[in-house]
Amino acid sequence: MAEKAYADQPTSDIEPLNPPHRLLMAPGPTNVDPRVLTAMSKPTVGQFDPYMFKAMGEVQKMLRTIFKTGNERTMVVDGTSRSAIEAAFVSVIAPGEPVLVCCAGRFGMLLKEIAERCDADVHVIERPWGEVFPIEQIEQAIVEVKPKLVATVQGDTSTTMCQPLEGLGDICHKHGALLYTDATASMVGNDLRVDEWGIDIATTGLQKCFGGPSGMAPITVSDRAAAVMEERKSIEAGVADSAQEIAVKRIRSNYFDLPQVFDYWGPRHLNHHTEATHMLYAAHEAARIIVSEGIDNVIERHRINGAAMSAAIEGMGLKLYGNQSHRMNDVIGVVIPEGVDDAAVRAQLLNDFSVEIASSFGPLKGTIWRIGVMGCNARKDAVLTCAAALGNVLERNGVAVDTGRGIDAALAIYESAERKDNQEN
Ligand SMILES: Cc1ncc(COP(=O)(O)O)c(C=O)c1O
Repeated sequence: MAEKAYADQPTSDIEPLNPPHRLLMAPGPTNVDPRVLTAMSKPTVGQFDPYMFKAMGEVQKMLRTIFKTGNERTMVVDGTSRSAIEAAFVSVIAPGEPVLVCCAGRFGMLLKEIAERCDADVHVIERPWGEVFPIEQIEQAIVEVKPKLVATVQGDTSTTMCQPLEGLGDICHKHGALLYTDATASMVGNDLRVDEWGIDIATTGLQKCFGGPSGMAPITVSDRAAAVMEERKSIEAGVADSAQEIAVKRIRSNYFDLPQVFDYWGPRHLNHHTEATHMLYAAHEAARIIVSEGIDNVIERHRINGAAMSAAIEGMGLKLYGNQSHRMNDVIGVVIPEGVDDAAVRAQLLNDFSVEIASSFGPLKGTIWRIGVMGCNARKDAVLTCAAALGNVLERNGVAVDTGRGIDAALAIYESAERKDNQEN
């Protein structure tokens, strides 16, 4: 029976992959920087090779600069961005412990779900999608709930909004809580100051403003948070030096057990998972590109290109979504004009121009488009191409937009940024 099933599915005519060239202007994944793709094709080394440890050490060093932290425990979790979220939560939270989740979009909901799956005692505060939390609202909930962990999303990709975090770390610590933030969509495109803002754990992904592929998730963990995780530290029996290293109360995941991951990345290099060598090369090159440009310069580049994209949108006569003073630099929300078929417009953009943009989720599904200006796509020609293509498709769909005026408005942003740059140098 099984043999027949295989025979019914001939495989000999499958051709090599030949994906289309796209301009990925959705809020992730973005086009992978060609230098990162080149780095991924370098020779494989074994997991105990000194070269591997050297590369891991350099990734840690560069990530500390990018996270703006001195945290020793700064590394990557192998998996997409949510792998680092799961690792953080399952390693900090023991079943029954109180967690406060700040939820104003799809990714706040994801934090809630992950905390629930850790069997935490989950408390949620909410804002309507498209809003951010005043710090006082979070503090009031901390006083009421007395959480072990306060979970926030810095940039909720679903709403394009960027949650202000400055000052929140001190508030959490004053009340005995740890502060977590999901910076998957915001980091590198917006300022994130892990040490200065007192963030205990921050996680992100490679596939957005890092300009890398999906599949590896940078994380940083403060000494304070690590001490909490290490209360349940247990070494896998097959690699433990003694029975004393095996605890009774263990973190409920082997793969996402951060104290074991720390030992793997730390001086002990105690074997855990088999490090994803070529993804590590990707993280190395993506981080190297960022630190060589300078993290603050990269953030500024995202800000300018995000401003140019939003100027193009407004200039052509479309409406921007949300309070622009809280918008992420790198994700622009566009209100879909009345009567326009969201899916048809995005399909025409993809088929005619090979440009991808996204809609949103939940209450915003079909009501806004989200345009990502991320990583190596935070550049003038990508912004202008996307704006021109969107304008053209809308014109062909009978929407009264002035594409030329939109492009001029974007160009004016670049001209003023260049003037400012010239004056400063
Ligand atoms: C803010 C945020 N958090 C988490 C995720 C989940 O990331 P991944 O799909 O890489 O697991 C995403 C994905 O877009 C995101 O934007």
